[in-house]
Amino acid sequence: MKHGDSTIRVGGVGTGRIFQGAHLQIYPQLLDKAHLVGFFDKQPARAKAAYERYTQTLKEYAGAHPESAEAVKANLAQLRCYESLDALLDEVDVVDVCTTTRGKMPTAIRALEKGVHSMIEKPMARTWIEADRASRAFAGTPEIYCQLNDDNVFEPKYLVLGALVRQGQIGNAQSMWLIRGSTLDATSVLKSQASAVENGGGCLMDYGSHGLAAAWHVVGTHLVPVKVDAVRIEVRFPHRVLEGDPFTVEVDDDAHVKILFEDPQSGAWTTIFLEATWSGGEIGPSKEKRGGQNNGYLRIEGDEGVIDGTEADRVTITRWDGGQTIVPIREFPSERISFIHEIEGFIDAVRMGKPPEIDVHYGAEVIAICGAAYLSAIRKRAVSLEEFKDFSREYVQKYGDNEQAEAAILTDLLKPYQWRK
Ligand SMILES: NC(=O)c1ccc[n+]([C@@H]2O[C@H](COP(=O)([O-])OP(=O)(O)OC[C@H]3O[C@@H](n4cnc5c(N)ncnc54)[C@H](O)[C@@H]3O)[C@@H](O)[C@H]2O)c1
Repeated sequence: MKHGDSTIRVGGVGTGRIFQGAHLQIYPQLLDKAHLVGFFDKQPARAKAAYERYTQTLKEYAGAHPESAEAVKANLAQLRCYESLDALLDEVDVVDVCTTTRGKMPTAIRALEKGVHSMIEKPMARTWIEADRASRAFAGTPEIYCQLNDDNVFEPKYLVLGALVRQGQIGNAQSMWLIRGSTLDATSVLKSQASAVENGGGCLMDYGSHGLAAAWHVVGTHLVPVKVDAVRIEVRFPHRVLEGDPFTVEVDDDAHVKILFEDPQSGAWTTIFLEATWSGGEIGPSKEKRGGQNNGYLRIEGDEGVIDGTEADRVTITRWDGGQTIVPIREFPSERISFIHEIEGFIDAVRMGKPPEIDVHYGAEVIAICGAAYLSAIRKRAVSLEEFKDFSREYVQKYGDNEQAEAAILTDLLKPYQWRK
């Protein structure tokens, strides 16, 4: 590692809400293998706030875990705020990137150039153009890793669901139905994410990319996304009050999309029908239309049975031959457990020299699915991923492989949701 010992030095980039509220809290438990040592945010006050919060978190951890007092002392001495990304990159082995989405791919690519591994919060990119740029760059440097930090993939219930599908408990998975999202009264996330330019879209990029990354992992990453149908993407509630301020939503706040995944070996297919929402779920037979990570509506149909994964504390497998099995799921008080899985998993991957499974290439395909859904809504028909990628390449040909191309494609794809079209 950079400082000649086996401890991985981690830097936080984009140290706002999710970094301080979730990521930063995980590192004290990893002290024996990784130290969070530095913070960079384009708003220096945010980096300072993270520095102060982590100092406090470490001290409280040492109080509760006296056996870690020495490690905490050593980590406290390392903490620094950095004035530039490059200055941070010179000092760390890994960056934990939690910027708004516009900052993610440029940070990952710069980290790669400096030989630093990166973990990128979801959604990985605003456009497939930048996701593909990063994907190509990392393909040429396989010893430097980039993980899509989509904690939904690492949620305990989703991991169980994936295992049940792989065991063949319902035969071959034919379709998966799910809601991922929030109800109308959730406001803080929207304020930072309801922006085409900063985040590449609305609820589809937010909860949609979350749900897709996780659902694809459940049905099997050997499957290839082929075609997307935007069943319905719209703004249901454009005028809102967010944290006391009036706010006009000019990106999608409810999206129903269908994706066809193909098994390249057999040509057989599986579909995922996903509702991503910022205005409460609509699909599913039960009265409750929850979209929570551990308790959202979720059903997987196979040729030999069905899995109902809607409840937080159990998964029910009903087989067509009459058998029923209830698998209890341990409930955790928050999503913290999935953040531990993703961050610790990546630290271990770097230490072992084993590339992460949920990598930049996987992330780029998730972004391509979201983009194809927006294009499908405009063309009013299903769109293949190849068609969408060709459509994206036209912007690159016209504007160059740069931010101008990204801004132009976003303007066109998100136009239907603008209040003043
Ligand atoms: N996994 C989850 O459950 C979850 C939950 C919330 C948010 N998120 C994701 O995390 C990301 C951040 O969300 P948030 O709510 O923390 O937003 P936020 O606005 O609170 O924080 C983002 C921070 O990034 C900084 N930033 C932006 N561009 C930068 C750049 N190029 N370099 C350095 N700093 C930069 C901003 O100054 C800000 O402090 C979003 O993309 C969101 O989708 C994930």
